[in-house]
Amino acid sequence: MINTRSNTHRAIVVLLLTFALSSSGAPAQGSPASGEQVNARVKALLSRMSLHEKIGQLSQVGALDLKPDQRKELGDLLPEDSVSIEDHVRRGEAGSILWTTDSAFIRALQHVAMEESRMKIPLLFGFDVIHGFRTIFPVPLAMAASWDPDLVENAQAVAAQEASAVGINWTFGPMVDIARDARWGRIVEGAGEDPFLGAAMARAEVRGFQGQQLGTPGRVVGSVKHFAGYGAAQGGRDYDGAYIPEEQLRNVYLPPFKAAIDAGVGTVMSAYLDLNDVPASGNRFLLRDLLRRDLGFTGFVVSDAMAVRDLQTHGFARDPQDAAFRSLTAGVNMDMASLTYLRNLESLVQSGKLSVTQIDDAVRPILEVKIRMGLFEHPYADSSAAESILTDPEHLKLARVAAQRTMVLLRNEDSFLPLKKALASVAVIGPLADSEKEIQGSWGVEKAAKAVSVLEGVRAKLPNARVESAKGADLQRKYPSLVDIVFGIKPAVPLPEDQLKNELDKAVDAARRADTVVLVLGELANMSGEAASRASLDLPGNQQHLLEAVVATGKPVVLVLLNGRPLNISWATEHVPAILEAWFPGTEGGNAIADILFGDANPEGKLPVSWPRTVGQVPIYYAHNLTHQPENDKNFTSRYLDVPTSPLYPFGYGLSYTQFAFSNLQLSGATLAPGGSLQVSIDVENAGGRSGNEVVQLYLHQRAGSVSRPVRELKGFQRTFLHPGEKKTVRFTVGKDELSFWSPESKAWVEESEEFDVWVGGDSTASLHASFRVASE
Ligand code: BGC
Repeated sequence: MINTRSNTHRAIVVLLLTFALSSSGAPAQGSPASGEQVNARVKALLSRMSLHEKIGQLSQVGALDLKPDQRKELGDLLPEDSVSIEDHVRRGEAGSILWTTDSAFIRALQHVAMEESRMKIPLLFGFDVIHGFRTIFPVPLAMAASWDPDLVENAQAVAAQEASAVGINWTFGPMVDIARDARWGRIVEGAGEDPFLGAAMARAEVRGFQGQQLGTPGRVVGSVKHFAGYGAAQGGRDYDGAYIPEEQLRNVYLPPFKAAIDAGVGTVMSAYLDLNDVPASGNRFLLRDLLRRDLGFTGFVVSDAMAVRDLQTHGFARDPQDAAFRSLTAGVNMDMASLTYLRNLESLVQSGKLSVTQIDDAVRPILEVKIRMGLFEHPYADSSAAESILTDPEHLKLARVAAQRTMVLLRNEDSFLPLKKALASVAVIGPLADSEKEIQGSWGVEKAAKAVSVLEGVRAKLPNARVESAKGADLQRKYPSLVDIVFGIKPAVPLPEDQLKNELDKAVDAARRADTVVLVLGELANMSGEAASRASLDLPGNQQHLLEAVVATGKPVVLVLLNGRPLNISWATEHVPAILEAWFPGTEGGNAIADILFGDANPEGKLPVSWPRTVGQVPIYYAHNLTHQPENDKNFTSRYLDVPTSPLYPFGYGLSYTQFAFSNLQLSGATLAPGGSLQVSIDVENAGGRSGNEVVQLYLHQRAGSVSRPVRELKGFQRTFLHPGEKKTVRFTVGKDELSFWSPESKAWVEESEEFDVWVGGDSTASLHASFRVASE
């Protein structure tokens, strides 16, 4: 029977709600608000806000629950603050809260904002959800190795869903800093060395975090970072300055930011570094000319943590007030954690140094983002749904697939891999062999799900085999990690010499007893990431010693690497038949590694970085320029006298358990008009015995022009699935976007009428070649 009474009642409620929302200009969650509606609401809010409340919106307050000894260790890294967070919120002194994942606390603070503060403006809760929240996905460098934007989008959608389940509504990603120096610890957080691949990953991450538009239920707003040039830190030392000429900035470092902005990212984070002597968080050229004017960004800029205050540390600002002034006028809307805006902007306005209009201009995009997110109408997470979201088994399935797809098979002599499941005994050796913590990587979150170690993964795969394990080596940082101090993690004490020897002997014995050895070497999670730069790329600790001792047993050895950067594996490349780069693969890492080792999954990852032979080669990247004495000259084969110029493994490289053959490279024409396009096609065939994906890569080179151009640049890629014996034609379009670059000669984007080379294949050394010309007639 139809219940007319309740239907009528429902219709009235719907009508009333529609009216209430339309009269306030508020969109339903997930539906875009028009620009006019948003502007009207922002204007109405600004007209009622006091100066103090406006400055509050420009302030992000840190909520780290530090113990006195941690605070002492951190020194003056964080500001002293005698006001409780609740009071800051109550007084309208916080636009955002940072670093809390406690859902009850988040909810309580949002209640204070919505019910006890005068303006009732909802808070943004920001947290670094970089590669997962409860379910940890592979680190971003690994995700880039998948060359699979859909996978990246899906993984970040899961991360967003889990984070938003506890009330987090803002993440500090994607991190898109181009990094060409593996010493820099933060290379792990981005997509590697290449702007084209980096842009594809940036776009995918933004779509994953934010959904179709801001306010999509179960998503969060993103923050593309660190604007800009941070990856070029001198000597790979974290936080060091960089000198980047404008052409490199525009052609190499900015494209991934542009991609994120074009994909609609809501916020941008300014970087710590001095760029060309001007700190990025006080850099008008970066934040106004490039970001707003040229890249068209309309959201808001948040500084990196403490970066506003640190303008003084840089020797740039005279005092905190000057720091606040210079950062705000340069274009930083929100001060992350340093309270410098909160403590100084008001007096700057009172003294007439800043106008209320300047403050309003800074507040406006923050309110806009909050309105577009639908936060005023939906400030709270649905706590009843949280547990089922956080424990959704589908998330683990995706994490396993992601980990499989990100691993790069570097070496596989005589089809050493996959291993047979009939093995009677395996030794899983190495300091990282049974680690659940390290396998999660650099932004593993405290409340992450329990991860599967390599040992557990191998045991699960071989229930009937004898699987032994031994550490064999010991790892720790020499200098403490900032992040460890913040999270209260005590540095490991190095093992005394005799115990270390004992561990090594145990490992060698275990290897001798086994049919096959899975040797798991690499880095601790805190050896990559922020404040985790290294001067050496050697295997840390006594791992090289362990490697050589295990190989000396004569047992078949496969080397599995868990790490956030390329390491020196030149010796291993000559002495170990199979090497699998597994990066930090996350929660399902151990299972995924076992899937690859024993052939339940086919490795398909491709390197997002050129892999150096030795630390002395860095910075190293494939898209360098050709200069005097080409290195492929018959007399001058290397630019060094002691090592080849080439990397150990090239960008884009990775093996599979099957083989792919490329043929029939065709162009739709030999010339194209400026602004026009041509088609490039190639046949790719699975010439091996099992199904798999190949990443078909297209590289271009401009032979002459107003400036020298890189020897090759990636301008297209497609993951292509093929059954054994199957052949497909893969097509690319090459046009203005692929052919243009920013020329320092004309200080503009140009497409030059010149001759171009094109190569298509499975990595950056692809040999199938054709050429064409851009010509006006
Ligand atoms: C890092 C950022 C991060 C921020 C907030 C900073 O130290 O450089 O990448 O988003 O902290 O945790």
